Amino acid sequence: MTDATREFGTVGVIGLGTMGAGIAEVFARNGHTVIGVEVNVAGVDRGRQHLEHSTARAVKREKITAAEQAEILGRITLTTEMAELASADLVVEAVVESLEVKKSIFRTLDGIVGPDAVLATNTSSLSVTEISTANSSPGRVVGVHFFNPAPVQDLVEIIRTVVTEPDVLADVHALLVSLGKNPVVCGDKAGFIANTLLFGYLNHAVSMYEGRYASREDIDAAMRFGCGYPMGPLALLDLIGLDTAYEILDTMYKQGRDRLHAPAPILKQYVTAGLLGRKSGRGFYTYEAPDSPVVV
Ligand code: NAI
Repeated sequence: MTDATREFGTVGVIGLGTMGAGIAEVFARNGHTVIGVEVNVAGVDRGRQHLEHSTARAVKREKITAAEQAEILGRITLTTEMAELASADLVVEAVVESLEVKKSIFRTLDGIVGPDAVLATNTSSLSVTEISTANSSPGRVVGVHFFNPAPVQDLVEIIRTVVTEPDVLADVHALLVSLGKNPVVCGDKAGFIANTLLFGYLNHAVSMYEGRYASREDIDAAMRFGCGYPMGPLALLDLIGLDTAYEILDTMYKQGRDRLHAPAPILKQYVTAGLLGRKSGRGFYTYEAPDSPVVV
């Protein structure tokens, strides 16, 4: 990785939902000036509440003081006007997972930010390359895939497209390290590193169960006690939600054509039958109430 050259004093975050609010907090906690953009006033209010709650929790847990909380919140300006991103050195887009919405944002940013500004998307599954083509300088576009909750999770996957400029990659990498994160770099394929490996493994566990090779309890116990995982794969799938897991696998399979990600047929059958995991009370296991411990 080459030496970093850019300073990212001002960071724009577009979309202040679950991820965007967390990302804005991470930057503000590390001394950056943050401009958060939401689609309407209700979105701005939701974003502000999210930031206030999250930083208040950090005060309660004695991670920061009340004075630091006030400083952090003081560094964040919230607005509904994209034009206010004119001074941003970096913009992180974290709006809904829609290619059209994301492309329209990257198109609009062309007329707003300066030529050296770096543009990043937090997409989990869309093509970063395709999003980048909406901007007139796709070389300055990267994926930065934060994990939820962004202030807590250390991993950030940086996604480089075939045209991302090496200095952009180096600068974003250095920035993320300065935030205390552990950045990793990968190419532009749905799932990136962590989810590609994780969901291949989870899908394999489902196939094993489907083929009656072993019971659900034994599959889960093998990974907990043999590999030290905090949860077995089938219990983890119930927690993620079988519908969500199916969608993620299906997207990865369609993009990557790796048969490891071809969703095990029983997964689709469970989803069709309404067995979605903890949230519906039944998946691979049965739960007394959503989110309760396993009872059957
Ligand atoms: P969310 O639905 O909580 O938040 C999206 C926010 O974007 C909403 O507040 C919405 O009002 C706002 N928004 C929509 N259109 C907008 C526009 N044109 N301008 C400004 N704001 C707009 O979604 P979430 O979960 O935060 O996901 C955001 C992105 O992060 C998605 O691309 C998702 O795939 C990705 N992601 C999500 C993770 C998760 O665990 N939720 C983890 C990692 C990435």
